[in-house]
Amino acid sequence: MTYEQATTLLKKNGQEQLLRFWKKLSAAERKALLAQIEKIDFKEVARCQKVLSGEVAATAKKGKPTAPKVAELKGAALKKAVAAGEKELAAGHVGVLLVAGGQGSRLGFDGPKGAYSIGPVTGASLFYFHARKILAASIKYAVRIPFYVMTSEANYDATVAHFEDNGYFGLDPEDVIFFRQGMWPGMTADGKIILDQPGRVFMSPDGHGGMISALKANGCFADMKKRGVKTLFYFQVDNPMVEVADPAFIGLHTIEKSEYSLKLCAKRDPNEGLGMVVKRDGHFDMIEYTEMTDEMNNRRTKTGDLYFKFGSPAIHVFDRAFLERLASKDMPLHLAHKKIATVDEKGKVVKATEPNGYKFEKFIFDALPEAKGVTCFAFDRAEEFSPVKNAEGKDSPATCKADLQAKWRRQLAAAGVQVSEKVPVEIDPVYALDAAEIAQMGLLLTAW
Ligand code: UTP
Repeated sequence: MTYEQATTLLKKNGQEQLLRFWKKLSAAERKALLAQIEKIDFKEVARCQKVLSGEVAATAKKGKPTAPKVAELKGAALKKAVAAGEKELAAGHVGVLLVAGGQGSRLGFDGPKGAYSIGPVTGASLFYFHARKILAASIKYAVRIPFYVMTSEANYDATVAHFEDNGYFGLDPEDVIFFRQGMWPGMTADGKIILDQPGRVFMSPDGHGGMISALKANGCFADMKKRGVKTLFYFQVDNPMVEVADPAFIGLHTIEKSEYSLKLCAKRDPNEGLGMVVKRDGHFDMIEYTEMTDEMNNRRTKTGDLYFKFGSPAIHVFDRAFLERLASKDMPLHLAHKKIATVDEKGKVVKATEPNGYKFEKFIFDALPEAKGVTCFAFDRAEEFSPVKNAEGKDSPATCKADLQAKWRRQLAAAGVQVSEKVPVEIDPVYALDAAEIAQMGLLLTAW
């Protein structure tokens, strides 16, 4: 893009201020700024402006929310779901989607969150545990399981480098597909795009919901079709307890012929910050924890249980065809009021002390109302959920390491091995995924 083309484009869209320091910029800065402007999707910018001005409601939510039916599988029903999931896995129909483009600002780690060290003994990273579970499943079911990893523009190179430096954790590099999510410019309240340096537009990742359009833009749906992938297991980078490609969950999804299935767990307290799946007007929907009122959080059933009892840790199964259908639709936009560095009239960078601008994000669960079939599946959080969100306190590396070790100790105890609380424990998922596999490995080792 040339300077003249950029001027015309910006004028047409009322964003000429982006070139106001042009004369002061070096050749390299000019080139970089033109490249940024070329990538801005002004159709989406116009949509953001409408949300900012209130012309379009950020999210149009109608109807009284009610709690959905949540399947709690046991006995024969559980066995049936596991068998269906195993069949799907062995047929090579399953792919894994990981969203790892977040900024991890609460953790404050300088690097992709997935590279954060969480192994209590080896110091292995979050990515290690995710990748090793996929490898374990592909060995178990003798099948290739493609692993689609979404990064942001900012953490793409460091993410790929982490996999390369660690030999892809044993996975075949051909089965690990990295792709970048979209980036959106930040804006002031009057819809003007912000420069955070004289020659740089402030851009931020477009949210985990950006995954759907990014899958399309990066040819991932085509890759899935070529591989015969029909069902996608989705999870977040911060939870090393997740049962990646859990056969019971995948099986229930296929038995129910759902387009979107969610694992849900009982909230640890009424105000825990988990999204809440609800039904309204015959559709499923997610209420963000920030939008839950005290009355909703504390509402009880006749038996004293919380009425809105189950929260979502963002562990999903999707039909590939469903996500593909959504990729050509506009997803709702969510506004976040943030402190964003700006540039004063003289070109000096000014740090913000108060929120002064807006970022826009898409959320994956906004796909819920679009799904033709939705299944909610309850799981035991002690076994599968302990995210690394904060540097300290709740949901921190310390709580996560403790929860991981407690799980491994339970598995070892069930396999007949008692381990003292004082001894650090870690199990490579490729060695064993559960107590039964530990027992099996133990027998093999004894025989050997
Ligand atoms: P979080 O909402 O926990 O955000 O993301 P975060 O950026 O990781 O952390 P904070 O809020 O800045 O502390 C939930 C999941 O969605 C992914 C994250 O990588 C994480 O797996 N995500 C989030 C993206 O992939 N892209 C985004 O734009 C936002």
